[in-house]
Amino acid sequence: MSKFLALIPAAGSGSRMGNDVPKQYLPLSGKPMIYHTINTLCRNPSIADVLIVLAPRDSEWDKYDWSEFSGKLRVFKCGGDTRAASVLNGLTAAQHALGISPEDWILVHDAARPCLSRSQLDKLIDELADDAVGGLLAVPVADTLKRSNQENRVACTEPREHLWQAQTPQMFRYGLLAQALQNAANTQITDDASAVEAIGLRPKLVASDSYNFKVTYPNDLALAELILQQRNSQ
Ligand code: C5P
Repeated sequence: MSKFLALIPAAGSGSRMGNDVPKQYLPLSGKPMIYHTINTLCRNPSIADVLIVLAPRDSEWDKYDWSEFSGKLRVFKCGGDTRAASVLNGLTAAQHALGISPEDWILVHDAARPCLSRSQLDKLIDELADDAVGGLLAVPVADTLKRSNQENRVACTEPREHLWQAQTPQMFRYGLLAQALQNAANTQITDDASAVEAIGLRPKLVASDSYNFKVTYPNDLALAELILQQRNSQ
């Protein structure tokens, strides 16, 4: 039986937030942002282990008590210069520590998507568990898309048919993902699916919704706070 493991790359600095503290640790609903991400993944009964990849010089993680998740949480301080390098380093470290099989599923989820819901996670696992390639949560593009020139004037309007916004988790088998990320080293990929696409495969898009957005700019924190508050009051 293949296992399901989650991996959270959390070695970024979050410079677009304009804050000294890396964004995964910014306060959100009384906890550091990454707590909510870890909570959702650890509470999913299908997921056996949750791997956290921190920057080698991370000085925030140890300020918090993570003992409620100690049954599933495995922490590796081996983040790299890019998200892809952090994921690959984490996979390699976890393979040595835990002995992952090439057929085991890895769900890579950004620390900065704290509003992932239980139902979205279940849907992803259900739709992909028998898939030959794997895939990702994504949302069909709703807005009209403009491409700009150097002066920020509209160069053209892009047709939005068949365009999706990629989210995470992105779910691939360990052997395939590690190989794809190794092949993509020194490229500019910003997600795991791009590495899999680059070896000629077609990841499946699993329809999600905009609640699972990535906290990137300061205003995003207030929105995430509202979503979590509303969910906790239900
Ligand atoms: O910067 P961005 O929002 O695209 O980062 C997405 C995720 O990748 C975040 O969880 C961030 O901490 C992580 N990351 C990482 N190592 C890096 C850069 C980003 O683990 N070098």
